[in-house]
Amino acid sequence: MKIAPSILSADFAELKKEVKKVEQGGAKWIHVDTMDGHFVPNLTFGANVVKALRPHTDLLMDCHLMVEKPEEYIDSFYEAGADLVTIHAESTVHVHRALQMIKNKGIKAGIALNPATPVSQVQAVLPMVDLVLVMTVNPGFGGQAFIPETLDKIRQLDMLKKNEKLDYEIEVDGGINPETAAACAEAGATVMVAGSYIYNAENAASQIDSLQKAVNKG
Ligand code: DX5
Ligand code: ZN
Repeated sequence: MKIAPSILSADFAELKKEVKKVEQGGAKWIHVDTMDGHFVPNLTFGANVVKALRPHTDLLMDCHLMVEKPEEYIDSFYEAGADLVTIHAESTVHVHRALQMIKNKGIKAGIALNPATPVSQVQAVLPMVDLVLVMTVNPGFGGQAFIPETLDKIRQLDMLKKNEKLDYEIEVDGGINPETAAACAEAGATVMVAGSYIYNAENAASQIDSLQKAVNKG
């Protein structure tokens, strides 16, 4: 199981340290939540933060674009050093083209689904993606409660992966703690994003550890 701490809940005045902290704590990925104030009702940071952090970490930079017109940002995220760029299925009518643009850069491409978006909406692009991000809260803010109805989509994606012999990570994002992580892992999730659970605690390493333990139990 991969744990991807989300810097959305980190101390922005200490970002470099906050990334190093989870790297030392055993994380292999770092999750970067970009919000534009249009696709979601909140504003965060963009490719410039990826660029600033890149020289200081070897973690896989997992960039979650919660923006309208994601096509317009792919170049800058690639240039900044992103390893994986995930766009939302609801954010453009040209999902295939946007994913192709990411793949053409030679980096990993992901597709994200809001809680109300069915798996069927992205079925046609599943063979070309490296990751499917199942939003387990409505995107925009950290610290929200997990929506249990999303578990069914994880199961569907896991089944499709096996039946169609596809190869993508199933990432979950929002409201992840040991209890919800265990449920997601059992349903087929392979990457857990966790923001507040990891960063709003005294010891990030022990939080990462307890997530790992919770999913290994299942
Ligand atoms: C929400 C973001 C998440 C967020 C998760 O829109 O996509 O990555 O940081 O935060 P928690 O883990 O606190 O729900
Ligand atoms: Zn996210």
